[in-house]
Amino acid sequence: MSKDFQQPLLKIENLSKDYSLGKIVVHALRGVNLEVPQGDLLVISGPSGSGKTTLLNLIGAIARPTSGDVFLEGKALSKLSDGRLAELRNHKIGFIFQSFALIPVLSVYENVEYPLLLLGASRKERQRRVMDMLGEVGLGELARRRPNDLSGGQHQRVAIARALVTEPRLVLADEPSANLDSETGDEIMKLVARLNKEQKVTFIVVTHDPVVSRYARRSVHIRDGRLLNEGVETRACD
Ligand SMILES: Nc1ncnc2c1ncn2[C@@H]1O[C@H](COP(=O)(O)OP(=O)(O)OP(=O)(O)O)[C@@H](O)[C@H]1O
Ligand SMILES: [Mg+2]
Repeated sequence: MSKDFQQPLLKIENLSKDYSLGKIVVHALRGVNLEVPQGDLLVISGPSGSGKTTLLNLIGAIARPTSGDVFLEGKALSKLSDGRLAELRNHKIGFIFQSFALIPVLSVYENVEYPLLLLGASRKERQRRVMDMLGEVGLGELARRRPNDLSGGQHQRVAIARALVTEPRLVLADEPSANLDSETGDEIMKLVARLNKEQKVTFIVVTHDPVVSRYARRSVHIRDGRLLNEGVETRACD
């Protein structure tokens, strides 16, 4: 076996993050260890304030840890400059985060095209990939709409298309079903599961909703900045 097949896509070693609030220190993550193989659909569930968004921010190289390290394809993020981290975010990671809201003045098409502009893809290539991706999420007909003229579920499907259009190695989703009714939330997770299965996209989804774990290949729980049970529950997958 080549080295590529042996190493997990993502490895997290003893990861901690403290936030200082004046004299108070918040220990948001306290020594998290985790490996995520290529092709996984990992759901991390935990209550509000347990450290889920903090963990995704560190995995996505949006913030740096207080200690410990994140390895993506064997590369330690701590060793990369801010410029290299920005490049890695644009090329290798897709984000479905509420903090990366769709841009209201751009159409659905232009929102999904945006990450491809950052990568310098040609106009023709952009057009092919955007329309393919909108087709995948069932929004080919709505390419010219503005985000404000969409339902919550359609909005979230555009965010998924935007995260996947660059064909990233890893997609990070922070509460993708939040603010949706349970049926629409279910639909979004079904879409995530289908893209994971058919396009072999690796997903890490964090949620406070234990129901989302139904769609996981593997699931872990987080409480007070620590993963519980030292590990991962695996579900047999077709
Ligand atoms: N920028 C910050 N400065 C200070 N404390 C922070 C900051 N961001 C998060 N925290 C604290 O760190 C802890 C973990 O926060 P985090 O946002 O990771 O939780 P979460 O699991 O995503 O919660 P939620 O489900 O509500 O989104 C919380 O106690 C939170 O108050
Ligand atoms: Mg959060």
